[in-house]
Amino acid sequence: MKPLIVANWKMNPATLAEAKRLFDSIKRGIKNVKNAEIVICPPFVYLSALESEIMRPSFAISFGGQSCFWEEKGAFTGEVSPKMLKDLGCDYVILGHSERRKYLKETDEMINKKIKAALKSDLTPILCIENISQLKKGTKDLLRKEQKKLIIAYEPVFAIGTGKPCIPEKAKEMKTAIKKIIGEEDKSSSSPFVAARVNEDISIIYGGSVNSQNATDYIKMAGFQGLLVGGASLDSEEFIKLAKNVTRACPVVELRSLRDCAPKLF
Ligand code: PGA
Repeated sequence: MKPLIVANWKMNPATLAEAKRLFDSIKRGIKNVKNAEIVICPPFVYLSALESEIMRPSFAISFGGQSCFWEEKGAFTGEVSPKMLKDLGCDYVILGHSERRKYLKETDEMINKKIKAALKSDLTPILCIENISQLKKGTKDLLRKEQKKLIIAYEPVFAIGTGKPCIPEKAKEMKTAIKKIIGEEDKSSSSPFVAARVNEDISIIYGGSVNSQNATDYIKMAGFQGLLVGGASLDSEEFIKLAKNVTRACPVVELRSLRDCAPKLF
């Protein structure tokens, strides 16, 4: 699997013109980045304009939303449905980000409903968790085939936007703990992850003060399958450098089928 690099722009930049400029320079800079999947998650209001700037089907950038609601449509003022995101060209959606848990009071139950709705609309949920409890509650009642579609982002709150990343050894411990706990629960068969081979079937990525200098540590040393990048994704030069460093750290280009290289053709 190619490493996944997810850019979470949060509520930035301030204008569409700036968003287009940022997107344009990222687009040009990562043109030759082949063995990483880049996902840009801009504010909802910029999605349509940015999506119209890319050339399908072989383009290297995918899009994601930063949240979604759990219903398809209806009287839910201010919300955006997974179906709407899909319709605008998104393949991913970030769910359960700590900033939404903190400022919007999103609960694990709400996040669980959002995950189920996102999956129904064929979006890949990127579930952000800080601990095992959030993982369990967020994935409650998911079928095995649904679990396999998730990406779990380990995002320790102390590391988000602080410039103080979790040291890779510690992050790796958490990644191992996630797997171990899931493994233990396999035995009791009460886990939503029963029989799921997390390592192969569910991607675990790291987020929290990732930059071009430390990015490869999380992939190479800690064994994460990707990164969730906030601040560093708003500086095109820094983000391009980060993507290139990750690419260089993972030089083995898998022999992919045409279907993998150009999924939009099929
Ligand atoms: P940061 O944000 O890279 O600015 O720490 C990461 C995130 O919030 O997903």
